[in-house]
Amino acid sequence: MIEKTFIFIKPDGVERGLVGEVLRRFEQRGLTISELKKMTVSGDLSDKHYAEHIEKPFYAGLKEYVTSGPVVAAIIEGENSVKAVREMCGATNPIESAPGTIRGDFGLTLDANIIHSSDGTESAAREISNFF
Ligand SMILES: Nc1ncnc2c1ncn2[C@@H]1O[C@H](COP(=O)(O)OP(=O)(O)OP(=O)(O)O)[C@@H](O)[C@H]1O
Ligand SMILES: [Mg+2]
Repeated sequence: MIEKTFIFIKPDGVERGLVGEVLRRFEQRGLTISELKKMTVSGDLSDKHYAEHIEKPFYAGLKEYVTSGPVVAAIIEGENSVKAVREMCGATNPIESAPGTIRGDFGLTLDANIIHSSDGTESAAREISNFF
């Protein structure tokens, strides 16, 4: 089924110049970038996007990180794009992400894991409306 998913390249990924490399991988896979923008995540948007994590002990650090510099947000469209993109990003903790995944190839630590991707079609729809 053709579906839309949402990603953003986190501030560390943008600062390291990984935007082109990450988007290239999605295009190479056969997925389409249907919307794309560079933006700064406000504190309010962080709270909204990470509502499920707001009470967690790591949230303060996560909010500081995600608002620390520009991100590049995109809507990625294609066959089973939610699962395809999620798997291409790799496990949350880059040290456990398989080589060949974005986090497995470019990351080493949980607090700077390069990219966010939606974990389901419902969260994708919600996150797209938050960011676009
Ligand atoms: N224990 C933790 N310590 C520090 N940061 C964490 C921890 N757990 C999660 N995070 C941060 O919070 C983000 C959201 O966590 P979540 O469990 O939703 O993982 P994810 O779905 O793989 O990542 P994302 O939502 O960013 O795509 C992670 O990507 C990571 O940056
Ligand atoms: Mg998540």
